Amino acid sequence: MNAFCTKSAISRVQSLVGTASQRSTLCRLSRNKPTPSYTGHARSLKSFCGHPSNAVRQYSVASSAPRPPTTGDSYEPEAPHADANAHPSTTTQLAEDAKYLLQLYPRPDVIFTKGEGCYLYDQAGRKFLDLNAGIAVNALGHGDKQVQEIISDQAGKLIHLSNLYHNEHAGKFAKMIVDSLPQTKEGNMGKGSKVFFCNSGTEANEAALKFGRKWGRRNIKAGETNTKTTVVSFSNAFHGRSMGALSATPTVKYQTPFMPLLPGFVSAPFNDIEAAKQLIDENVCAVIVEPVQGEGGIFPASQEFLHTLRSRCDEVGALLIFDEIQCGLGRTGKLFAYENYGVAPDILTLAKPLANGVPIGAVLLAPHVAEIIKPGDHGTTFGGSPFATRLGMSVFDRIRNPKFLSHVTEVGNYLKSQCEELANNSPLISQVRGIGLMVGLQLRGSVDPQLFIDLAREHGVLVISAGNNTIRLVPPLIITKEEVDKSIQVFESVISDMESYIAAGKDLKG
Ligand SMILES: Cc1ncc(COP(=O)(O)O)c(C=O)c1O
Repeated sequence: MNAFCTKSAISRVQSLVGTASQRSTLCRLSRNKPTPSYTGHARSLKSFCGHPSNAVRQYSVASSAPRPPTTGDSYEPEAPHADANAHPSTTTQLAEDAKYLLQLYPRPDVIFTKGEGCYLYDQAGRKFLDLNAGIAVNALGHGDKQVQEIISDQAGKLIHLSNLYHNEHAGKFAKMIVDSLPQTKEGNMGKGSKVFFCNSGTEANEAALKFGRKWGRRNIKAGETNTKTTVVSFSNAFHGRSMGALSATPTVKYQTPFMPLLPGFVSAPFNDIEAAKQLIDENVCAVIVEPVQGEGGIFPASQEFLHTLRSRCDEVGALLIFDEIQCGLGRTGKLFAYENYGVAPDILTLAKPLANGVPIGAVLLAPHVAEIIKPGDHGTTFGGSPFATRLGMSVFDRIRNPKFLSHVTEVGNYLKSQCEELANNSPLISQVRGIGLMVGLQLRGSVDPQLFIDLAREHGVLVISAGNNTIRLVPPLIITKEEVDKSIQVFESVISDMESYIAAGKDLKG
């Protein structure tokens, strides 16, 4: 694990870059422009999110225990959200949890206990501005009243039935989704499309890949060999971690430990039109692509690339699958990300925000695909439950509201422009990418995003990374411009600290 995770990132920067005045000098030298001293901006940050005074007050009200034990430099009054300032029981509980929970994720020493809007609160009552939304899931934020009401009402009525019986919500929800699809040519994704509900993004893609394989053999007669089995995916893609979805996720670190993967999966560089044209031949049954890559580092596909995929799939009779698990459902300011491109898929996969955090996934099949899938071809125990689909219907209905979508566009544009300004003022950020409320800050070549993430968290703002040294911003879609301003204020300080660190000659390589 990165050393910065184990100790206050702020205290590390402080101890490494010397006194406030030295740091300030270093900043000026490194940026060749006046930079506020560390102490100065730290003081201004104290008031952010109502801390530390509020935190300390809530802390002492919530617990009669003394302040958390500190180990010399690990207690940082300038970093009200430093991991060392968490509730005293946090460390003990995490140590106990680690004995039983499979350790798959490096996580900070913070335990969150409640959320409200765009904010999360930890055990000590400290408030964090959440720019992750559970990895692009909580589109309506945390603690939404309408979500709560539906959950509680439906939980009292009927949670689960299995697909062996009908429920009153799944069909209505499927109709709502199909009716919201942009109309394209007759027979394409739109009118007449059908929906399969499952429980996650991976499951949605797994089903889509199976449907692609079935499509490839639809004209094969008994005794004939089927050669139309190849699935094409693209570099940097993320489609999930089950064997099928993983086989379409051509990233060494995800795939290598689990080799051999499924046969028949090949990949081409993302956005490389010539490579895609060559790879998509008569043996291809399906092509899967994210219109805007998320995990890979927030890379939008080019218009020309998606149009090429569409026409090449049509030429060779392959299905085009759009994975909109991260970029769909309002995140780009359009209900479906492919509306930004004017290219429609044959299969569309959705998940993350579909029920604002209650697990659900959906596969949409254009009519020509739906008609080849027969009873028994696929299934799920939990998918399409009355609970998830009733909630999904209400969440989807709110997201598809044009006012909601224009809010995403407006605040998304604002976020991006503010990030671009940050990038203009710091050599640490080499590029800003994204659409709507899906923005990536590309850190300069060798800079490890973990220090950015740790410093931001210690100042009360939660961000995550993606791809290669990218800071990923995928906040709740209800975020306001004021909340964007708060985040940018923190990012400025974070960048200033990191520049001090670099100016002190420290290596920020991951
Ligand atoms: C584009 C994309 N596809 C698929 C998945 C997998 O979804 P899940 O984690 O819900 O299985 C993800 C998750 O991050 C994703 O971003």
